[in-house]
Amino acid sequence: MTSEQVTDRLGRQLKDLRISVTDRCNFRCPYCMPRERFGEEHTFLPRRAFLSFDEIEKVVRASIPLGLEKVRLTGGEPLLRPDLADLVKRLSDLEIELALTTNGSLLRRNAAALAAAGLTRVTVSLDALDDDVHRAMSDTDIPVETILDGIDAALEAGLAPVKVNCVIRRGVNEEQAAKLVRHFRGTDVTVRFIEYMDVGRTNGWTLGEVVASGDLLEHLRGEFDLIPLAAERASDVAVRWGHSDGSGEIGLISSVSAPFCGDCVRARISADGRFFTCLFASGGHDLRALIQNGANGGNLTAAIAAIWERRADRYSELRSEETSASALPRIEMSYIGG
Ligand code: GTP
Ligand code: 5AD
Ligand code: SF4
Ligand code: SF4
Repeated sequence: MTSEQVTDRLGRQLKDLRISVTDRCNFRCPYCMPRERFGEEHTFLPRRAFLSFDEIEKVVRASIPLGLEKVRLTGGEPLLRPDLADLVKRLSDLEIELALTTNGSLLRRNAAALAAAGLTRVTVSLDALDDDVHRAMSDTDIPVETILDGIDAALEAGLAPVKVNCVIRRGVNEEQAAKLVRHFRGTDVTVRFIEYMDVGRTNGWTLGEVVASGDLLEHLRGEFDLIPLAAERASDVAVRWGHSDGSGEIGLISSVSAPFCGDCVRARISADGRFFTCLFASGGHDLRALIQNGANGGNLTAAIAAIWERRADRYSELRSEETSASALPRIEMSYIGG
């Protein structure tokens, strides 16, 4: 415990900071960045609006006295940000876990440098093993083989175990779930299945497209002998299930059917430095302006603490089709970070 540790209005601490380093991506997963809304005419953040590595380091350093344990670099696709390993290097001597969420397409050429710079873990998004389904889920021509090779590169670089995130959409890729489990069984890769969420305003989400984790588990247990495993940390989003013969585990992330807001210790920072206290927030706090006006060290810590103390977000617990259809502006996941 540090003396400055803060709790929000629901008694939750700030332990996990997810930092988006770019709002751009080379994929167009329809559940995240549908091409018709993120096409040629879409205005991405100008690069000069991005938090610099120096500014990101200031925010992370300022959050550590509050009890921060983990930083996750996300996007968009974080490996599109040039020299990302330099940022990893800057953050690596702080006593925190340092993870990366990536679509894997650029991992082969970056894994060794990231590992050498001090990255602790990597999570790769992969929604299918078959190319045609992968194309439908991610709207890219990059073959599955490239992503699998990126995962291998991460393992070779010592970034094991690797987690694979698979978003399931009814009628599109639920048949891929068992294939992914089969493929990664007995390896240093843990597959986690994520319920499709109503993040942002552009993906046209409907509840009918969500496959509840309970149903998916039942389906998987038809083929695999899975036993429940204990949670490692109360704030973990994935519920773990292990192969009974010890040949690995899978995870289920039930953000729709069993929300986990009660243990939510996560804050997010967009690429332009806005601090969001919920994935579904409609507004953020402009840390970049604060930093550019001279906030650093103690006063930046105090500013973050003040935002956190006012927090009462629990969107997923309040979610209903009605709230989802509401006119409240919501931030896109590619902007706020996955
Ligand atoms: P590690 O335990 O460090 O591997 O990280 P994690 O379990 O937080 O995993 P990751 O960052 O890969 O998150 C997995 C997925 O869970 C995300 O892509 C989201 O779909 C979902 N998720 C993560 N955090 C939240 C959250 O705060 N709220 C909601 N509703 N969903 C979340
Ligand atoms: N529902 C659930 N997860 C999503 N992600 C992006 N959009 C959604 C959504 N609508 C998550 C996926 C992906 C990561 C980058 O963001 O886990 O792997
Ligand atoms: Fe890109 Fe990841 Fe969003 Fe897909 S889910 S569009 S890979 S940021
Ligand atoms: Fe946290 Fe908001 Fe997700 Fe709930 S919906 S777990 S409060 S980020």
